[in-house]
Amino acid sequence: NFLPYIILLFAYLLGSIPIGLIVGKVFYHKDIRKEGSGNIGATNALRAFGTSTGLIVLLLDMAKGFIPVMLATSFLEKGSPFIALTALLVILGHIFPLYLGFKGGKGVATASGAFLALTPLSLLIALITFIIVVAVFRYVSLASICAAFVFQWHCFALLLKEAKPDYATVILVAIVVLMIISKHKSNLERLLNKTEPKLKFTKKGN
Ligand code: G3P
Repeated sequence: NFLPYIILLFAYLLGSIPIGLIVGKVFYHKDIRKEGSGNIGATNALRAFGTSTGLIVLLLDMAKGFIPVMLATSFLEKGSPFIALTALLVILGHIFPLYLGFKGGKGVATASGAFLALTPLSLLIALITFIIVVAVFRYVSLASICAAFVFQWHCFALLLKEAKPDYATVILVAIVVLMIISKHKSNLERLLNKTEPKLKFTKKGN
């Protein structure tokens, strides 16, 4: 049965599509990697090209994560470790994209899409955390890091209390949270130096 492997390949290739880079090139003729933080994600798209473009990149990056995991849950056996692997591969695709020499984004939006399909309650708790931290401090990176920690804590609490825990998802969550936090190294340095830019909603990039 090749189906799980086809889904895994599809997940990685879909995750690899650099939405922020494409949107920036097509609509603004700019390379997002040379703007702001240099990241290809929604936060930097918002910073460079304005709020609505940032939101579009956010939604498309989330859809990238959501679609393959939905496919995996509908076509594969319930409890199959290939479902967690599909989520891992789509997120790996975004962070280490085939088409950009494996230099991609930080994985927050794509992971949110994947976990929306996989662990929606924990994702909701993470989203609430994210919104509170952004509202109070106005740092998206800090909100992403805090949300990632809360997400992991909630997921572990939920999954490990089951009679037969889904260890594939437990391992997935641990790996993804670790990757997301380590991808925020430069943000953490800027937060400590007090040079991290705060979130600002703008109509259009400069
Ligand atoms: O999801 C990425 C966000 O947490 C930080 O993005 O562009 O400020 O490094 P950026």
